[in-house]
Amino acid sequence: MGFLKKIYRWLFRSLANQLLVTYLLVITVSLGAVSLWALNMIRTESVNNLRNSLEVEAVNLGLEIDNDLALDSKKSRARIKDAVDRRAQRLGVSITVVNDEGHVLADSGKRPEGENLSNQAEINDALAGIVAIYERPTPNNNWLFIAYPVRAAGHTTGVIRIGMPLFDMERRLNSDLYGFLEIMLATIVVTVAISLWLAKRVNRPVREMSAMARNIALSGDISEFVPVSRRDEIGELGLSFNQMIGRLREQERLRQEFIANASHELKTPTMAIGSVVDALQAGAKNDAVLLPQFLNSLERLVERQTSLLQDLLDISRLDGGLDADWKEDVGIEQVLADAIEQIRPQADKKKIELVNSVVSENSPGSNHVIPGNAIQLQRALVNILSNAVNYTPAEGSVIISSNYADEERMQITIRDTGLGIDSSDLPHIFERFYRADKARTRAAGGTGLGLAITREIIARHHGTIKVDSTLGKGSTFAVFLPTKLSTEPRTVSASGSTPTQPGSNMMVDSTRT
Ligand SMILES: Nc1ncnc2c1ncn2[C@@H]1O[C@H](COP(=O)(O)OP(=O)(O)O)[C@@H](O)[C@H]1O
Ligand SMILES: [Mg+2]
Repeated sequence: MGFLKKIYRWLFRSLANQLLVTYLLVITVSLGAVSLWALNMIRTESVNNLRNSLEVEAVNLGLEIDNDLALDSKKSRARIKDAVDRRAQRLGVSITVVNDEGHVLADSGKRPEGENLSNQAEINDALAGIVAIYERPTPNNNWLFIAYPVRAAGHTTGVIRIGMPLFDMERRLNSDLYGFLEIMLATIVVTVAISLWLAKRVNRPVREMSAMARNIALSGDISEFVPVSRRDEIGELGLSFNQMIGRLREQERLRQEFIANASHELKTPTMAIGSVVDALQAGAKNDAVLLPQFLNSLERLVERQTSLLQDLLDISRLDGGLDADWKEDVGIEQVLADAIEQIRPQADKKKIELVNSVVSENSPGSNHVIPGNAIQLQRALVNILSNAVNYTPAEGSVIISSNYADEERMQITIRDTGLGIDSSDLPHIFERFYRADKARTRAAGGTGLGLAITREIIARHHGTIKVDSTLGKGSTFAVFLPTKLSTEPRTVSASGSTPTQPGSNMMVDSTRT
């Protein structure tokens, strides 16, 4: 048992061992089968040959003694005996002649004259007129017997039986068998050699790669690529491995960049806070005019710091994928309505009109929902809306609409009449910390993280976001989100299902319950 277990372990410890054992099994079984088949064929063929030549001898002997058989006199029996002995000696076989009743007339061996052999199968057959061939084991050897009926005038007058030991033939067969075994052994040796060589060729790079992977797992060291010099599957594995390392490096680079940017962003307001505090301590705290001003700017700086920290937290939570429930059935109109309400004070301050135009006939049916997370979706929409309000001069407007882009996709469009985005900035605005116009947007309180967070959240919902903008005219953000049929009545919204407030200027799908 313990031994079998050891073999089992050894076998499944390495691919090479499995290959080797498989090859050996295949070779042994197939060569073994072929050898058995061939040996069997050779044997049958040899027996046939022997049989034919024995039959020829029997026929010839028959011709020689048929007259004497018919005579059955003392003289004739002596002649038969003589013919039998001569032939037996010449051929190295044993010959027995019996009369038509199966009694021995002559025997090249020690069989006494007159012994009744009619109970032996081949004699019996021959007496019935059939040429009988029998193989019979004796203590030392297999014998081949042929019993040949001698006939005269339609009657069987006697039977000639020639027996021959198969000793020689079997010795030859044995040597054939050894030949086959030798071939098998040689093949096995060659196979073992080849598969050991192959195993080494296959194993070395695989082992190298697995050692590297382990090293990466343990120490995080991704400074090296694996050498790839082959075009087979292992080469492919190496390439994939290197792609993975490349990807890891890129991620590492982004992470470091993110940390550097984040620290820089945090440092600026912190230093400003420091200098305001210095100024206060240096005497401004006693100045009735300066004090409220300084406190005011302190408050703004702290606010800015707080919102930056909030964004950083959001983004790192998104990166970590920590948020618990992303499988709610989200009713998007409610979420959109809540987002608009959240941004309304900001819009009112700038006298910016918020228009929510749900196109009723195409609007999402009450039976469609977005699988995901309501709080996150609201945050994504708030980010876009707050940009629209932030980057639109006073008394502009922001137009929001939602409808079906196609059967399975919601489209939410947020258009503003604001500053617009330069086409050279457009491809970058979703990057972390990217701000189109540094001075302007920082004054507006931007961190450059809002759209990055938004894009991440939308991607988590398997959606996409597109932007279209003309400098000086305004921008349009379009969000596409896949929907599904709701299985239960919707209740989820980011603020815990506040119904639409009466008096708000939103048009909401009236079928909603
Ligand atoms: N509606 C918009 N109109 C004009 N510019 C916009 C608008 N939305 C985003 N942007 C530009 O894209 C940049 C990135 O946006 P965002 O990621 O939200 O960062 P920020 O914190 O600066 O708002 C902004 O700094 C701004 O320059
Ligand atoms: Mg923003």
